Amino acid sequence: MNKAVLSLNAGTGLEVELLPFGATIRSIRLFGQELTLNYPDPADYQTDEFYLGATAGRVANRIAKGRFELNGVAYQLDCNNGPNHLHGGVAGFNRQLWQVLKQQPDSVQLYLHSADGDQGYPGALQVWQQFRIVDQQLELSFLALSNKDTVLNLTNHCYFNLNNDGTSIENHQLQLTATHYLPTDEHAIPTGDRRAVAGSAFDFIVAKLLGPALQQQDQQLALANGFDHCFIWQGADAAELKLMALLSSDQSGRQLEVFSTQPGLQLYTGNFLASPFAPRQGICLEAQGWPDAVNQLGFPGTLLKAGELYQQQIVYKFS
Ligand code: GLA
Repeated sequence: MNKAVLSLNAGTGLEVELLPFGATIRSIRLFGQELTLNYPDPADYQTDEFYLGATAGRVANRIAKGRFELNGVAYQLDCNNGPNHLHGGVAGFNRQLWQVLKQQPDSVQLYLHSADGDQGYPGALQVWQQFRIVDQQLELSFLALSNKDTVLNLTNHCYFNLNNDGTSIENHQLQLTATHYLPTDEHAIPTGDRRAVAGSAFDFIVAKLLGPALQQQDQQLALANGFDHCFIWQGADAAELKLMALLSSDQSGRQLEVFSTQPGLQLYTGNFLASPFAPRQGICLEAQGWPDAVNQLGFPGTLLKAGELYQQQIVYKFS
């Protein structure tokens, strides 16, 4: 039942195309206007290196030196991002063919069986991901079960551009509801600090243009060649479905709100996008667990206990 491209349309003006390969969002159109970066040919996703629209996992973002310890056992994962492991390594969920379990006009359910040891992680893992259009929002629901204790951190890696005219996202406005973010070292691994955004380039509490923010003098911006940082939500309601980000463009009048149950959101301004795209042509707003959480004392855990249900939601709401 694996077809190359799956189309979702609920007659609400929002149309979505998915690929079972990588559980990838290939296209999001609002009243005909494309809002994400994509390749013309579905086959191009097989060699994509930017995680374009893909589902990142088993553990999205980085694990320092690809190493962690769980229940007294040391694990070594492959290092595909300098000295670190990124997005599941070279054979992450973005490179795997998901099974189509169910397809309806407004929703698709994908499934992946990830064998014990897949990507170097413990536990045979079952993952279900549902994509559903409700009005003008696209809802992503992730469910997973492992037969052994493991670590898991799933996200979607869409690059948005609300004008989609081939130009940069620097003329987009961004608002983030996070009061803190995680500063990193030169290899994008969190230092362990939780830094207040107030008064810095990272302060998006009030909506502001991305271009000038990217120009600000800031050691963290210089290290990452732009924004490539996890904004964090702490406290009792961090795990609730909450508004994390609001992206808008005056040029097109389009707006995207990102809601999620995840405690973090990696803001990535497409710093290293390259041919056929250009740097900063898209922006990723990746709701996820905190990077390198498995090695960082005091970070909310990405541990998934054997037999326990992993449950997360991401909602992209357009207008
Ligand atoms: C994530 C990372 C970035 C980059 C992209 C993929 O967003 O944080 O550094 O690797 O994925 O290109």
